[in-house]
Amino acid sequence: MTLTLPRGAMIIAVLACDPSGTLGNQGTLPWQLPQELRFFRALVQGHPLIMGRKTYESLPRRLPDRPYYVFSRQNSFKPSNVHVFSSLKAFQENRPSGALFFMIGGAEITDLFAKANLLDYAILSHIHATYKGEVHVNLDFLKAWKHTCFYNSKIFDVLCYTYPGGDLNSQALKGNGF
Ligand SMILES: NC(=O)c1ccc[n+]([C@@H]2O[C@H](COP(=O)([O-])OP(=O)(O)OC[C@H]3O[C@@H](n4cnc5c(N)ncnc54)[C@H](OP(=O)(O)O)[C@@H]3O)[C@@H](O)[C@H]2O)c1
Repeated sequence: MTLTLPRGAMIIAVLACDPSGTLGNQGTLPWQLPQELRFFRALVQGHPLIMGRKTYESLPRRLPDRPYYVFSRQNSFKPSNVHVFSSLKAFQENRPSGALFFMIGGAEITDLFAKANLLDYAILSHIHATYKGEVHVNLDFLKAWKHTCFYNSKIFDVLCYTYPGGDLNSQALKGNGF
């Protein structure tokens, strides 16, 4: 799976949710969808990842060769090789310039970045079936965004959302070998 992404400093949200916005269940994903997971891994390959502490702790294993930027207010949370930020202000003051970041959730950190208008694009896997879960993402911020459908299947569709004024389109993501 090869992807061509826009160059330059930007933050792209990558999430998967069901029709009710369900994102997580008891510290893990509510579903097991290998194809969606493959898409996610290929998309974020090699790029710095931003996430909340709960999402970090939900990862079955660390994806290698990339910086991790994790939000936590706990002073005792200091995993090795992880940049921990105790606030959005701390992140903005210390993030490297020029990098393309993927913000991979969860719901709390998505809300934080959406409210601060820090997201340039969002790539969302809309899963068709409904799942049980207590973590729901608020996607209201996407209502004014343009979107194009990049992939569809019986199980999930992938939509690319562009911040008003942005220029990512599904062509930029073609050729990923779905
Ligand atoms: N379907 C998907 O695409 C997807 C993606 C990601 C995660 N998930 C699932 O979603 C669930 C986790 O999501 P979540 O919304 O509960 O948690 P989360 O967003 O991953 O993490 C929340 C944590 O982030 C820290 N935090 C929040 N705001 C902060 C701020 N302003 N400054 C510093 N730190 C801040 C706090 O950590 P401390 O408590 O340490 O202070 C908070 O408890 C899991 O079930 C996971 O599997 C699903």
